[in-house]
Amino acid sequence: MDPQIFVIFGASGDLAKRKLLPAIHDLHCRGFLPEQFAVLGVSRTEYSDEAFRKSAYTDNDFIDENKSDSFAEKLFYQPIDTLDGQEYGKVRHRLLEMDERLGTQGNYVFYLSVPPRLYTEIPAFLAGHDLNEHGNGFRRLVIEKPFGYDEASARQLNQELQEYFDEEQIFRIDHYLGKETVQNLLVTRFANGIFEPLWNRNYIHHVEITSAESIGVGARGGYYDSSGALRDMVQNHLMQIVAHVAMEPPINADADSIRNEKLKLFQSIRPIREDEVAQYAIRGQYIGAKYNGDQVKGYREEEGVPDHSSAETYVALKFFIDNWRWAGVPFYIRTGKRLPTKATEIVVYFKSPPHHLFRNNADMLNMNNQLIIRIQPDEGLLLQFGMKVPGTGFHVKNVEMDFHYSDLTDTEVPEAYERLLLDVMKGDATLYSRGDSVEAAWKFVDPILKAWKNNPDIKLYGYPAGTWGPDVADDLIEGERVSWRNPCRNLTDSQNFCEL
Ligand code: BG6
Repeated sequence: MDPQIFVIFGASGDLAKRKLLPAIHDLHCRGFLPEQFAVLGVSRTEYSDEAFRKSAYTDNDFIDENKSDSFAEKLFYQPIDTLDGQEYGKVRHRLLEMDERLGTQGNYVFYLSVPPRLYTEIPAFLAGHDLNEHGNGFRRLVIEKPFGYDEASARQLNQELQEYFDEEQIFRIDHYLGKETVQNLLVTRFANGIFEPLWNRNYIHHVEITSAESIGVGARGGYYDSSGALRDMVQNHLMQIVAHVAMEPPINADADSIRNEKLKLFQSIRPIREDEVAQYAIRGQYIGAKYNGDQVKGYREEEGVPDHSSAETYVALKFFIDNWRWAGVPFYIRTGKRLPTKATEIVVYFKSPPHHLFRNNADMLNMNNQLIIRIQPDEGLLLQFGMKVPGTGFHVKNVEMDFHYSDLTDTEVPEAYERLLLDVMKGDATLYSRGDSVEAAWKFVDPILKAWKNNPDIKLYGYPAGTWGPDVADDLIEGERVSWRNPCRNLTDSQNFCEL
């Protein structure tokens, strides 16, 4: 990897402390960073280098005692008023001085861990001091979510950023793409000969994706209320998972080939029209309840949330992908806060066999083979199929074949941010979202947002904290199987051992 300086705007904030610095620290400990490497924290707080190092280490248990000194030496800090363009001269000056002293060769990554209103200001100010131009080194810009508020604002943000930085320099981060298991979806599908031949409308009955969280909005009520689950989780994380599950095989494993296929997939999703929203989208909001022995607050009682808020903390959608592979196959996705457990998984339901040989068997009714791909926790894969119960007759029983990442004892599943930061340092954009596909994902969610805003008759269902969301979400599911698969913490479908 090239020598470089990793500049974090918003360095005194929560994300830098919780995710970015620990990830860079781990990369350092695992020997991935070049000798000539430094982090420059930039924000308003008046820290010295020393105070910044201390704050990074305070209450952070990421520090590996043995390597902590050598990591601390790589941390520097520059206080500026981020809203004052003139002040960026100080950043430039500091970077040049560090280049000279540390041999970082003018290569900079700028990470914007700041409120969205600064997403265009900071790049403009950087450009004002020639910090956007490749020349004597690379310049890369990392943008956190939310990337826009709807399709129009995402398009505008893209245009504004591209005034100062080329698309190749812009890295839009979606931390779900850094998850090992999300990346593994591509390997499961395209490095094996057995799944892909079945991966289409001829064999798959429907696909379900659940991303459940047991936590509420906590202290993020202010942000969350202007966002809601559709913007917070669906437009980005869930749509990325859908893309990995449903896209066509790319011609290559490089950034452009993969991102071209994702764009094509987003363009193939049939938009839910505003007048269909009540039928295909269910929204819910958690209400206070006694859960696990504790009284849990309802969403409207959370800090920073208005008394009559209509923000959704739960959403379930049904949609179709209008292409050759998926015509007629329903996709169901849902996410919510204050559900019984934290788990994200994909369930691929295969069609039943065309002819029921063992038709007198009641179990056969529920015999669709399922492939469950667990994103988190208990990462792994589980295939469910029918076996003959030993003994007389032909009684069939569902059994499971499973793989758990935890079985790979010598491998640790790395934190999402670690992988993503390493990639931007190397200049690999494969796991970052391209501007056009972010817009395409917004295009899908936009009519739903509009319908909810413009049509107060579309119900917002309350669901007690600690339950699986509004019951009516089951009505979305077509056919014999009439409810969602509710995941446990552990990857199993046997119902014998389900830890919430
Ligand atoms: C974030 C959302 O992007 O993802 C949060 O803003 C959510 O509301 C989080 O809790 C979930 O991420 P993970 O990695 O814990 O599944």
